[in-house]
Amino acid sequence: MTNEPSDSFQTIIRARRSTRKFEPGRAVDRSVLERIVDCGRWAPSGANTQCWDIIVVDDPDMREAVRQVFLRQAQRLVDHAKGFPAVSKNYLANTVAIVIVLGDPRWKVCFPQPTTPDWEAEYDENNEAIFLCSLGAAVQNIQMGVTAEGLTSAWLSGGGEATTNAELAALLGYPPWMRAYGTIPIGYPVATQDRRYRRPMEQVCHWNGYEARQYRPHALVDFYESTLRPFAMYRDQEDPRDWDDFDTKLEGWGAAFSSGDVNETAELEDEVDFSRPRTSGRATKARNR
Ligand SMILES: Cc1cc2nc3c(=O)[nH]c(=O)nc-3n(C[C@H](O)[C@H](O)[C@H](O)COP(=O)(O)O)c2cc1C
Repeated sequence: MTNEPSDSFQTIIRARRSTRKFEPGRAVDRSVLERIVDCGRWAPSGANTQCWDIIVVDDPDMREAVRQVFLRQAQRLVDHAKGFPAVSKNYLANTVAIVIVLGDPRWKVCFPQPTTPDWEAEYDENNEAIFLCSLGAAVQNIQMGVTAEGLTSAWLSGGGEATTNAELAALLGYPPWMRAYGTIPIGYPVATQDRRYRRPMEQVCHWNGYEARQYRPHALVDFYESTLRPFAMYRDQEDPRDWDDFDTKLEGWGAAFSSGDVNETAELEDEVDFSRPRTSGRATKARNR
């Protein structure tokens, strides 16, 4: 037996967009919101723990209180995480609902547990990965459900920052050990946004082994972080070659961002410290100001 292939699924995949502008003054029926949450309910999770709870905020007063939490969160980014190209969160006022996916870490005990001390790091790290991937699947399903309903959404991770999560827990009444890993503002789009930068297929897909020519060198990561990131995040085009300012914005990295020919030397590099940005670009300068 086979499932019927569905063109419309591909359409939904491409139409799911991070949208940060909604039509004001709109509302939806709770039945629509329930269908959306049901998509999250059906997400896969490690050991079928369903390690989430999902809060739907559709009351205007509560929505405003949540918006205030995120305005403070955004200000903290400006003050303490300089250089990240975040946009204003005022648009939360125009949502029809805000869905919050809480992760419940108690369920990590149901994932494979180390029984010998030497293997603690091995299994503990992977427990974290299973937990976070499960939550990501739920958020993704919800975003897809939103798109299928003709609505649009974003995926905000800022609710998971400790200070913001503490404020949300106090406001919404959930246990403080749970965490708002995904906050999904939902609304009616003001414009069609069905394009965004994507690496080309021939760069992403490796057949039967890792192809070193498709490897993105450390310097490319540095360029993305310091320079290209805001354009790749917010421009409504898939291929940067369609940008009017392709040559100026890509600064010689054009082929690397738009073809499968990324790494001329076809050699891989050694691991370095990946935890902090390494170059001095626009983002770094903003951070240092
Ligand atoms: C784990 C995760 C966290 C994200 N956090 C935020 C966020 O805090 N604020 C935001 O505006 N977008 C956030 N996004 C959305 C990304 O910026 C967006 O997915 C990316 O730029 C690609 O755009 P697209 O979703 O329209 O394809 C997040 C996405 C993911 C998967």
